[in-house]
Amino acid sequence: MVDNPRDHNLQILQNGTVQVAGQFMWGSNYTFLAKVETQGESLLAVYKPLRGERPLWDFPPGSLAAREVAAYLTSRALGWDLVPPTVLREDGPAGPGSLQLYLDIDPERHYFNFSDEERQRLRPVVAFDVLINNADRKSGHILLGSDDHLWLIDHGICFHRDHKLRTVVWDFVGQPIPQDILKDLRAFRNHLTSNDELASAFAELLSQGEIEAMTVRAEQLITEGRFPEPDGVRPYPWPLV
Ligand SMILES: Nc1ncnc2c1ncn2[C@@H]1O[C@H](COP(=O)(O)OP(=O)(O)OP(=O)(O)O)[C@@H](O)[C@H]1O
Ligand SMILES: [Mg+2]
Repeated sequence: MVDNPRDHNLQILQNGTVQVAGQFMWGSNYTFLAKVETQGESLLAVYKPLRGERPLWDFPPGSLAAREVAAYLTSRALGWDLVPPTVLREDGPAGPGSLQLYLDIDPERHYFNFSDEERQRLRPVVAFDVLINNADRKSGHILLGSDDHLWLIDHGICFHRDHKLRTVVWDFVGQPIPQDILKDLRAFRNHLTSNDELASAFAELLSQGEIEAMTVRAEQLITEGRFPEPDGVRPYPWPLV
């Protein structure tokens, strides 16, 4: 049953015919704009084929698209709705890859350009990035839509077992994590340690070790109850935007 517009978009992404419509020029990996059509309906999506992934020393080859989907499932399961609907498609025009709803929003409305008030809304973003161990949270990938919805994109290099948190958002270091965020984190941790549908979905996308490491990070956030300090050689992404 389709009861919300984002689930509707998810179904189109999952079942529609995918055609390449353009290419994003500035990313590290091959990223395409795609038109996805089904039963007279269409939408634009961002298609990242596994084949277009630039090899990295620390992430297994061909694993970035699955991480994009795992980030979407995490945000959705937390009830935070930060990541646009994202699916894996085996039959993409350039082979298997991730397909994410394209956000038709002002790319200049990103973190560095936010007002103080807008920055106050970023506590769930920080908790999310710590949880998924985001190794590349650039300013340009934290966006506000014209309806003020907060969106996060680019989650290819997340969920590593080792600590790799690199982010531009260090606004809340040492501050208490609000109770509503902790409540959602506890519920999420319970999913991870059960055998439910979400746990099986993660098992298809991430390694067992990566899932265990995420469980440990969830547990740490819950028990510490505070936003962590920068820890590691380089806690910032490069470039910053
Ligand atoms: N869902 C989306 N909606 C709109 N634009 C998007 C979306 N996802 C990605 N883009 C655009 O495509 C560009 C490249 O995507 P992304 O940053 O995810 O790939 P990347 O290969 O990791 O690039 P980078 O080297 O910039 O990190 C983004 O900077 C953004 O302009
Ligand atoms: Mg990136």
